[in-house]
Amino acid sequence: MASGYSELKNARIEGIRWDTQDTATVRVSLLEEEGRKSYSFKPGQFNMLYVPGVGEAAISISSTPEGSGVIEHTVRAVGYITRALLNLKEGDFIGFRGPYGNWWPVESIARRNVLVIGGGIGVCPLRPAIYYLLKNRKKYSSVKILYGSRTPKDLMFPDEYSSWRDSGAEVHITVDRGDENWRENVGVVTTLLNKVDVKPENTSALVCGPEIMMKFTAIDLVMRGIKPEDIYLSMERRMKCGIGLCGHCQFGGFFVCRDGPIFTYNQVEKFLNVKGI
Ligand SMILES: Cc1cc2nc3c(=O)[nH]c(=O)nc-3n(C[C@H](O)[C@H](O)[C@H](O)COP(=O)(O)OP(=O)(O)OC[C@H]3O[C@@H](n4cnc5c(N)ncnc54)[C@H](O)[C@@H]3O)c2cc1C
Ligand code: FES
Repeated sequence: MASGYSELKNARIEGIRWDTQDTATVRVSLLEEEGRKSYSFKPGQFNMLYVPGVGEAAISISSTPEGSGVIEHTVRAVGYITRALLNLKEGDFIGFRGPYGNWWPVESIARRNVLVIGGGIGVCPLRPAIYYLLKNRKKYSSVKILYGSRTPKDLMFPDEYSSWRDSGAEVHITVDRGDENWRENVGVVTTLLNKVDVKPENTSALVCGPEIMMKFTAIDLVMRGIKPEDIYLSMERRMKCGIGLCGHCQFGGFFVCRDGPIFTYNQVEKFLNVKGI
């Protein structure tokens, strides 16, 4: 696996599927057969995707860890690199390195009740964990997925919720603002916690979304008796090298790329950004 910044075009765009107005899933395959065979990742890890002549961004893997040879990344067009990535076409080449970072502790939380809580496109790095948990559903006491977005049009992967339910998950969806067709919950994602039976002593929570959403979700979970060390949050900071060398992603005493992106709430509580409250 490449281990530093590289302009090498070593991957091919297999397709781009628009999920919402500003977010699309980019399907990528590695060019070299050897790399294709050996590539594997754990739920929650990310890759560094380089758009030739534009730049490189950290993007979480959103597909199943089972590995079909095509790796999915769900990208919101927010700036120069992500817009350029989403302007590419099937057959275009990009630079690819990874996987990097730690992962959701899906193996060590076996036999526990698992709460998966996503906000906005934060559900994308959780999606590989959801696939893993549901494929191994019998290993967990319960799997409850709580997901919220701003409006019904911003919901990611709406076609998958019924298969998540069929695979043994309790799934609750909410939006901040409904429309005339919306029949489910309205309110921020923490309001869904009132709809589920939370057994604090044996529950682990996997949480990803805007930092402020993760902060309030973690506070709520702690108030319900869940230990801070059983609450896992996936953090984002601006990245450059992705491998612990440049310091761009400094987060308190941590580097997000090297020590994260997944941290327990007790590790990061005092560094969480609550600007804008
Ligand atoms: C571990 C990890 C996983 C990620 N996974 C995903 C993913 O799955 N999908 C995805 O879409 N994105 C993901 N990101 C975020 C993505 O890497 C960044 O948004 C990246 O900066 C986009 O590059 P850009 O050039 O398109 O946008 P930028 O120009 O870098 O802008 C991105 C956003 O950051 C803001 N911004 C710009 N400059 C600054 C600054 N100096 N300080 C603070 N904010 C600034 C912009 O206003 C904009 O909202 C992830 C990031 C990390 C660290
Ligand atoms: S991005 Fe360089 S140290 Fe994390």
